[in-house]
Amino acid sequence: MLEVNHGPQLSGIKSNKRPLQMELDDPLCYCFHITKRKIVNYIRIQQPRRASQLSECGGAGTGCGWCVHYLKRFFEQSANRVLDECDSLASSDYALQRAEYITSGRGRPAPGAIPLPQESSAVDSVNVELADKTRPR
Ligand code: FES
Repeated sequence: MLEVNHGPQLSGIKSNKRPLQMELDDPLCYCFHITKRKIVNYIRIQQPRRASQLSECGGAGTGCGWCVHYLKRFFEQSANRVLDECDSLASSDYALQRAEYITSGRGRPAPGAIPLPQESSAVDSVNVELADKTRPR
């Protein structure tokens, strides 16, 4: 089973460094927990003829719609074999831009999607509170 990195904000916290660019194991489609690696491999192996066929890779792009632009760019890259903005975008910036996209009402995350950075922090703080309350004194 594919292990998914649950967000660039977590990897940034762990390493105390801001990642310079999106890594292969960073999520590309937050709604369906699909990594950049999975998309790149899907393109390489399945050789889709249209960008819309990337939705057959675990439903990528069929949730909130945030990643559709990037899926199209990866598809175009594979056809043209060029590097572009997708590889120069920091994964933390990608996550923050998606959060802005969602909070501005332009898309609604699929059920079970990777939470927005603020939601993730809120969930983490609730978990810390619960751990504190259940800890023996
Ligand atoms: S992030 Fe891909 S559809 Fe929402």
